[in-house]
Amino acid sequence: MIEYIDEIRVKDFLMSLSSENDDDILKLKEYAKENDVPIIRDEARDFLRLVIGIKKPKSILEIGTAIAYSTLIMHRLCKDANIVTIEDFEKRIISAKSNIDKYFDKSKIELIEGDAGAYLKENTEKEKFDFVFLDAAKGQYINWLNDIKRLMQKDAILIADNIFKDGEILESKYLIKKRDRTIYKRMREFLNSVTNDNDLDTYIFDIGDGISVSIKK
Ligand SMILES: C[S@@+](CC[C@H](N)C(=O)[O-])C[C@H]1O[C@@H](n2cnc3c(N)ncnc32)[C@H](O)[C@@H]1O
Repeated sequence: MIEYIDEIRVKDFLMSLSSENDDDILKLKEYAKENDVPIIRDEARDFLRLVIGIKKPKSILEIGTAIAYSTLIMHRLCKDANIVTIEDFEKRIISAKSNIDKYFDKSKIELIEGDAGAYLKENTEKEKFDFVFLDAAKGQYINWLNDIKRLMQKDAILIADNIFKDGEILESKYLIKKRDRTIYKRMREFLNSVTNDNDLDTYIFDIGDGISVSIKK
């Protein structure tokens, strides 16, 4: 009987059993690595696939496209789902557009070029999406939460990635560098809000850099 299990060894072992079989997705992953584009970690990718596979959403909102890597993962799993994805960084928009041209059924995807906060505010529709993947500026999650909730249907799922902010969120605030304190405080507020919100059932997972999963009641 082993008394202590090294978490890094567990992660390495699990990842050795997880492989990517889709060549197009692999190409985007390789590009992201070569060009320092932040994309979803492998453990989080597997979790996203699991939830998408169970939920089978029809209408997805992704906040934070980057080069459309996670977008392609969701598109390949749910070919019939309509995806709206938002990115505001010009250089990444150019890559995302080119990848969408190459790899997507264009009738199923809309790339919003601009600030997610503005899109969420201006979009006054209600209950438009049954799945939201939140993966953009971490300090904005709390500011966007009410607008995201308005856009979620009953039983819609919200997945927020990187909620541990590379582990910082687990530390005492006194150990956080001054310049990072605002994001730290806002992410803590986001986690408090989603876990105490009467409209949401929220579960937090130690997967990748931390993931929250909220279901709208
Ligand atoms: C972690 S990356 C997204 C990775 C992508 N979801 C994936 O896994 O392939 C976050 C992206 O959000 C974008 N972003 C940050 N703040 C944003 C905002 N306010 N509006 C739109 N995009 C934003 C960044 O430019 C960056 O490309």
